[in-house]
Amino acid sequence: MKKLMKFTTNEIRQKFLEFMETKGHFITQSAPLIPENDASVLFNVAGMQPMVPYLLWESHPKGKRIANSQKCVRTNDIDEVGDDTHLTFFEMLGNWSLGDFFKEESIAWSYEFLTSSDWLNLDPKYIAVTVFEGDEDAPRDEEAADIWKKVGMPESRISYLDKAENWWAAGDTGPCGPDSEIFYWVGEWEPTAESNVAYDEDNWMEIWNNVFMEYVRDSEWKLSALPNKNIDTGMGLERITATLNGVKSVYETDAFADVLLKIKELVGEENYNEKWARIIADHVRMGTHIIADGICPSNVDQGYVLRRLLRRSIREAYKMNYEENILVDISKMFADKFRDVYSSVKENEEKIYAELQKEEEQFAKALKSGLKEFDKLLKGFQIAFERSGKKIDTIAGPKAFKLYDTHGFPLEMTVELATERGYKVDEEGFNKAFEEHQAKSRAGAEKKFAGGLADDSEATTELHTATHLMLAGLNHVIGGGVHQKGSNITPERLRFDFNADGKVQRDVLDKVEEFVNEAIQDETSVVMTEIPKQQAIDEWVEWSFWEKYPDVVKVYTMTGKSGKVYSRELCGGPHVETTKDMGTFKIKKEEASSSGVRRIKAVLNK
Ligand code: ALA
Repeated sequence: MKKLMKFTTNEIRQKFLEFMETKGHFITQSAPLIPENDASVLFNVAGMQPMVPYLLWESHPKGKRIANSQKCVRTNDIDEVGDDTHLTFFEMLGNWSLGDFFKEESIAWSYEFLTSSDWLNLDPKYIAVTVFEGDEDAPRDEEAADIWKKVGMPESRISYLDKAENWWAAGDTGPCGPDSEIFYWVGEWEPTAESNVAYDEDNWMEIWNNVFMEYVRDSEWKLSALPNKNIDTGMGLERITATLNGVKSVYETDAFADVLLKIKELVGEENYNEKWARIIADHVRMGTHIIADGICPSNVDQGYVLRRLLRRSIREAYKMNYEENILVDISKMFADKFRDVYSSVKENEEKIYAELQKEEEQFAKALKSGLKEFDKLLKGFQIAFERSGKKIDTIAGPKAFKLYDTHGFPLEMTVELATERGYKVDEEGFNKAFEEHQAKSRAGAEKKFAGGLADDSEATTELHTATHLMLAGLNHVIGGGVHQKGSNITPERLRFDFNADGKVQRDVLDKVEEFVNEAIQDETSVVMTEIPKQQAIDEWVEWSFWEKYPDVVKVYTMTGKSGKVYSRELCGGPHVETTKDMGTFKIKKEEASSSGVRRIKAVLNK
């Protein structure tokens, strides 16, 4: 019989980090959930996402062995939430070798951590692995298989699978490579000696992935070798906790069990529905972390995802006949669990509760106005029928989407209300309208990130450097207190939003231009250094959102040949090495952007 120890999520997280420390890894803080310079995703979907620059080309300030517990959000399986394994927010335990150790150590250490009695003490007989079977991109991974055999894995437990299973990449482009996944037996009987993932897929649950990241794929789908052979591993904390405790579901572990009990207590046993309660718990947990990382409910980008999940939670509570506020009570339970793990939660508790409370109150109001709109819609159907005799029995997709978008009606609620009154809803039409909206949101997010890694053409890079000089110039001329409120750079021009009391007069703009042009003519060079965040705060380095930055920050310092320091600012780059070919800086336009915020458009004339 399986011998299982009872571990909590906190203990397992701790053990993992301790173990990796004994193997020479530096333990970093989790990066925020919102990627800093990556427009391809709205949230970090894997522990490796914030590590991409280091997996590709940059050297990590903390060395070549890094480990952490990274906050992640995946919303692609949102409809599965409430089953035993799917979550929107999860913690990923991961370790990385940045051109240091490779397959040998990675596999041996994974096996040691899982099976050693000093660590997780899992019985090796319940472990199976997979490796890449090989194709035109990379050879059959006999190397990984041999290492597995060497550490004690019976040959029969090793499966060779294809790219769909044993190749990992965060997206279409970027670092990637073959992987080796580790599985644990979840069957209800004892596994036979021959059982493995290829033949007995349903009885093995994936618990850990070791990616051998030695390739990079470009936008033309071309694969090339990376300069470094890297390791990227990821283990879902909630899943490994369920495994270790011998329970089927992540919701039965200490990550959720007490929260579900609390929901049962609030709604009453007779109204309780396990699936709906799980949805509330998952969504509020996710919302707590997203707000902690600086996002508020809104109708765009990440804020839109957040709003959708929170409103769904409220609706699930309504379905269990609970119409009191529920979000804050549940969020507080999660804050108790995470306060000492992620400083983002500890530092933003009041804000988290305030935002949840506001959203809950707003939704109650929206619900009332939405119901009016809904009744009006049905009345229109009725009038049309009386006038023309034509019976309309379906609410069109765009109408259902309007109820959702303007009044915050989740689709399922519109369907329920319609059904009660004998109508149908064009759900496909709704989804189409919804997807169109999502695509627009995403395009918006992409634009916002432009100027970072999204576009590193020479013209854009020069304008990015000019943006830093201009902000420094504004502070120099106005006398300080000016900060970035938004930035958008195309190869043609920079656009920059900043705080100001009123119009910035032309004579001030002329002086700012002079400042920037002086720096350009001074053949200013740009140097990036990495320093602790606190040091940067102490040294008054220019910033826009401290809370968004990691513990170690990148500072771009711009110093002229004359020795004058023109600008020091936190940034993710890229910048020019020297300003000498940047031409002449010219401010074309100054206008209002929103209340208390002005906008400048400027160019570089060659
Ligand atoms: N990046 C790998 C994963 O998420 C480890 O599975």
